[in-house]
Amino acid sequence: MSNKIKNLLKKRNKTKIVSLTAYSNHIAKILDKYCDITLVGDSVANVLYGMKNTHEINIDTIIRHSKSVKKGIKRSIMVVDMPKGSYKTPLQAKKNAKLIYKKTKCDAVKIESNNKNFEIIKEIRKAKIPVMGHIGFTPQFKKKFSVEGKTKIEIKKLIKEAQLIEKAGAFSVVLECLTPHAAKIVTKFLKIPTIGIGSSANCDGQILVTDDILGLSGFYPKFVKKYANLNSLIERAVKKYSKEVIRKKFPNNKNFLYGKWKFKTNFQK
Ligand code: KIV
Repeated sequence: MSNKIKNLLKKRNKTKIVSLTAYSNHIAKILDKYCDITLVGDSVANVLYGMKNTHEINIDTIIRHSKSVKKGIKRSIMVVDMPKGSYKTPLQAKKNAKLIYKKTKCDAVKIESNNKNFEIIKEIRKAKIPVMGHIGFTPQFKKKFSVEGKTKIEIKKLIKEAQLIEKAGAFSVVLECLTPHAAKIVTKFLKIPTIGIGSSANCDGQILVTDDILGLSGFYPKFVKKYANLNSLIERAVKKYSKEVIRKKFPNNKNFLYGKWKFKTNFQK
């Protein structure tokens, strides 16, 4: 296990773990200063490609975005989501995890749980690749959105799933859209840190989609807090640019590459 991950594990119970998603190096460079984990999420499908879900994004696209993100990473743990269909069997999972790990030089991969793929995590760990789990609402496997952990039976199931993920060798697990009570109990039952999204403050850390908190994606469920409104900022800038081009205010003398046009020419039409 890398020092980065060992340090993360030491943080548990001392300070909260901060995580966000990135799909490109300029965003990753900013996140890297403040986040413990930078995730190249398969949410890139909805956020950047306008797909209706995360199912169609393929391994080549994830690798391409991860290579860009890697250029912005110095200190945070870079985790790459394995796309749907890339870990159907333990052997396929190991082969694809190795490909992602080798090509992107990430620190870990993340796989969503369908309450079955514990062997898959074990197989990826055999290749010495750190794995992050993901339980609760897992968009790769669940069609209909629902909050999980509302009943005693559901909570018991979530605890078991999380414990099997931990036993299989994962270093951390994302809890997506669990009730606050379920998040608290699952976190209590685990030795590895839990990272919540829409699962209350009862987790060891938090993750959100960066484009959501920046007000860029147009997706703002209740669990997202908009920390900026970049959509309107961008619109204002583009509107101004458009006006200035039409009114011949841009470019002006200051925008010439070679300074002012000083000499006279003899060119005639
Ligand atoms: O793909 C993603 O962005 C994620 C997070 C929301 C956890 O999996």
